Formats: sequence, C-alpha cells, structure tokens
Amino acid sequence: MVYVTTPIYYVNDDPHIGHIYSTVIADVLTRFFRLNGMSSFLLTGTDDHAQKVLSAAEANNMEISDWANHKASRFFNAFSEYRVEFNQFIQTSSQSHKYQVTQFVDDLLKSGDIYPSEYEGWYDQGQEEYVSEAKAKESNYCSPINKKPLVKKKEFCLFFKLSSYAYQVENLIINDTIKIRPESRRREILARFKEKIHDIPCSRLNTSDWGIPVPGYPDQTVYVWVDALLSYLSTVNTDENRHFWPPKFQIIGKDILWFHALIWPSLLLALSKKHKWLKLPELIISHSFWIRNGEKMSKSLGNFISLKDLKLFTDKIGIDAMRFFLIDSGPNESSDADFNAMKLQETYSSLLANTFGNCCNRVITMILKYCNEAIPNSEVKSFFPSEKVMEIVNKARNDVISGKFYALSSEGLKVVRMVNAFIHSSEPYKLIKDPSKLPEVHAVVYDSVEALRLASLLLWPVMPEKVALFWDAIGIREEMESLIKGDFSRDVFKWGRLPFGIVVKKLPLLFPQEVISKNTV
Ligand code: MSP
Repeated sequence: MVYVTTPIYYVNDDPHIGHIYSTVIADVLTRFFRLNGMSSFLLTGTDDHAQKVLSAAEANNMEISDWANHKASRFFNAFSEYRVEFNQFIQTSSQSHKYQVTQFVDDLLKSGDIYPSEYEGWYDQGQEEYVSEAKAKESNYCSPINKKPLVKKKEFCLFFKLSSYAYQVENLIINDTIKIRPESRRREILARFKEKIHDIPCSRLNTSDWGIPVPGYPDQTVYVWVDALLSYLSTVNTDENRHFWPPKFQIIGKDILWFHALIWPSLLLALSKKHKWLKLPELIISHSFWIRNGEKMSKSLGNFISLKDLKLFTDKIGIDAMRFFLIDSGPNESSDADFNAMKLQETYSSLLANTFGNCCNRVITMILKYCNEAIPNSEVKSFFPSEKVMEIVNKARNDVISGKFYALSSEGLKVVRMVNAFIHSSEPYKLIKDPSKLPEVHAVVYDSVEALRLASLLLWPVMPEKVALFWDAIGIREEMESLIKGDFSRDVFKWGRLPFGIVVKKLPLLFPQEVISKNTV
C-alpha cells in the first residue's frame, strides 16, 4: 500500500514548471510502485483559502470561488496533460475537506492542543506566515522571499502547542522514523531544531467568508497552512481509503520543508491522541528549485517558466521526453537546476534519440531480420553480463524506495548503454553471415532484448507512453498493462522472464531527431 502526495498548490496564479516537476516526481514514484505490484494512491490538488488567492480574485474582479475553481482546473488539466495519474485532486474549498478540518480542529481545541491567546509579531503577507524577530532583522524587516516590507501585527488568535511536540519530532527525525531526504535537507532541518521553538498562531481574524471558521470562534479562520496540511489526511480519511494511511512519500520543494518536517508531524501527534491509527509520514522528499538563466523564478520578477514556455518544447519532443528531462536533469538533490534549452536538446538527442530510441530500434530490427520476427530461443549462452544488469536494476529499485526517484532514468539508461555496447562488440550482423552461428546470433538477440526489457521497466514510470510503444512492439504491452492494474502474478524484474516465440512488430520511431535549442526560455 503506497500513499504519495504532492504539495497542495496555491491558486493565485497558473501552474508553472515547479508545480509540474513536484507532481511528475509523485507520479513517477506511484507508477514505480504499481509496477512492483503494490496498490497506490496519489493525491494532488489546490490550496484555495490563502489570502493571496483572495487578493488575486479581487484584482481580477472575479467571485472568489469561481476564480479558485477556474485556476484549479488549470492545474488539473496541466497534470493530466503531463500524464499524472492522480487518484484524487483535492480543492481545500470542497465541502468534505472543510467538514473534516472543522472536526479535527475541534478535536485539538478539546485536547487543549489549540488554545486562545494573543500574538504580536512580524508577518510576511506573501508567505502567510509570521517571521521571528531575529529573521525579520536579518532580512531588514522585508520578506526574504518577495522582498516586500513585513507588517507588524498584534491580534487575538488561537495557538497550536507546537512547543510540546518539537522535541519528539526532532528525535523522530534523528532516528530516521520520519525520513527526510536528501540527507543534506535532513541535516539542515535538524540544525533548525536548535532554535527555541514556540507555539504558533493557527487562526486569523475573518475578513471574508473564504476559509474555514474555527469551531466555537466564528470570527476566526483556520490558518491556511493547518487547513492545507490537513488535506493529506482529509482525502484518505474515508472508509474506502483509510488503509492507505500513512503517506509513504510526500514530495515537496525546499521552501516548505519546515511546515512538513515540524508542523505537520506535530499536528498528527496531537491528533493521534484521539485517533490512534494516525501514524506519521514515512519519507519526505524535499527537492530544490528550477531556476531560469541562473535567477530564482518569482512572481515579482515575472520569470516563471510557464506551461506555454514548456509547450514550445513539448510540441516538438513530446511530454514523455520532457518528463524524462525533468526527472533526469532536475533539482533532485540539494542544488538548484537551471532550465536550459541546450541541455534539453542534449538530453533529447543524445540520451533519448541516439541511445534509448536507437537501441530499441536496433534490437527490434535484429529480431525482425535474424529471428523470424519472433523473440528467439537462446540455446547457447552469450557473453552478456546479465548479473551486472540485475545488479543495476536491483540497486535502482532500492534507490527509489529510499527516495532517489531519479535512479530510474539514470540507471535505466545505464542498462541501455550496456546493450548498445554489447551489440557493438558481439557484431551479430557479421555472425549472421555464417549459418552455423545462428544459435549465437539468437543468444545475442535474446539477451539484448531481455536486458532492454529490464531497462524499460525502470524507464516506464518516467516515460509511460514511449515505453508502452516498445512493449507493444515486443508483444508484452497487454500483459504489462493488466499487471500494472493489479493482476500481479509473477516477478517481472527477473532475468529471463521474457518468453521466446512472441511475434514482434515494427517499432515506430520513438524519438525523431528535432532541433529544439533554437527555442530559448
Ligand atoms: N500551498 C502551499 C503548499 C501547501 S502543502 C500542504 C504552497 N503552494 S505553492 O503553489 O507555492 O507550491 C509550492 C511548491 O511548488 C513547492 O514546494 C515546490 O514543490 C513547487 N515549486 C514552486 N516553485 C518551484 C521551483 N522554482 N522549482 C521547483 N519546484 C518549485 O507552497
């Protein structure tokens, strides 16, 4: 059982590359687990109740709910276009979510984990969060994110007893019960626990009827972060889906790690006093940022790589190739990654067209030409290092389980390169000229297609459509698709699993050569 979540995105604006990236990572992981015979639930959606969403609706003269629904549909469509197979797309303005948040906040009020008090501090309106005095001073009393002045605010509000849970959460991170990856982010967050952790405000004064009122305090609205974090819980808290709990992978950007590493587990610990089944998330993957020409992307700079920008490329190379690029060259670990058209061109031409596409084509052509159009029976042994392939495949699988989702593209390609090198060195096109060497040719071809099938298993979560075309050509598409839907009877990751005798079809050109680097971003 695997529950995977993406952040729940603000709908003040349209989706951009960062949102696509986090969501594609979640999809890649979910597909990987489905391929491994596990049932999965992928959640994505939108964070509707933020103040900045309200401001955007006002600025555009739109009714807030119409605005939120309109923008949410942009996210929904973008993720669908990028082949993300989500099980649920939540909007925090939905009735069922609002109802559940009200219940959970009520539980926390009753247990004393939420209590009334007064707060005074520096507020960052863009981030919807208070900034500590030290931080405010450090950033010259301006938002470290959008550089706008921080606002001094004093107000009655409800507080969440974060300080009661911080020590426990810190220990859970230290002993890796809550895994934070990459390791550098785990260390970074542990260093932050050295600061004194105070209780946090978890409500604000109502300024409109947008948001979720705090039960018993009708003039207070639930703080948007508490509202949004609880969507991970409200979504699967149904009789049908509760068994997916807890989240196995939570994908987030580095900007929101603190909320997920401290506030979120603390809320869950507080709620678990009443709801005993509420275990903690297992692994939080906190990736870095896509940047543009070396600069951070931001609304104020107006330099986000939009869907329209990406379309300039995907119209030529297709969505699967873009997914591959995002996963293979993205800000997967602790450094940011520059979106660069030359790099995209290089990835497309060299890794996809010349390496993977070419290898698929070579192998299928050999089967069609030398093996009577069917997967050959290999009666003799070739010199293919099948143990090495299995080592790479198994290592990649373990890497993914530990959060290194990008092992799928890098290790998948590694196996493809081995196949290309093997064909090159064993020269089946020369051997075939001597009829007595036919068993050897068949052995070379079988081992090549089998290794390529194993590579395709690593690559499918990243490029589902292109890989399905390859499966179609080698006659295993139907079986693979029913298997992925849950009919999981045999281990597809075993060497020699491909039966001989299957009739093979011609393969369409997977990655036609394209010149794309002329398009700049
Ligand atoms: N609504 C909150 C999240 C609540 S989760 C309970 C939020 N939304 S957001 O719309 O601002 O999306 C933030 C997320 O988008 C980041 O955490 C990250 O996953 C993704 N990205 C936004 N900009 C990004 C880049 N430039 N690069 C990569 N991903 C980034 O925060």
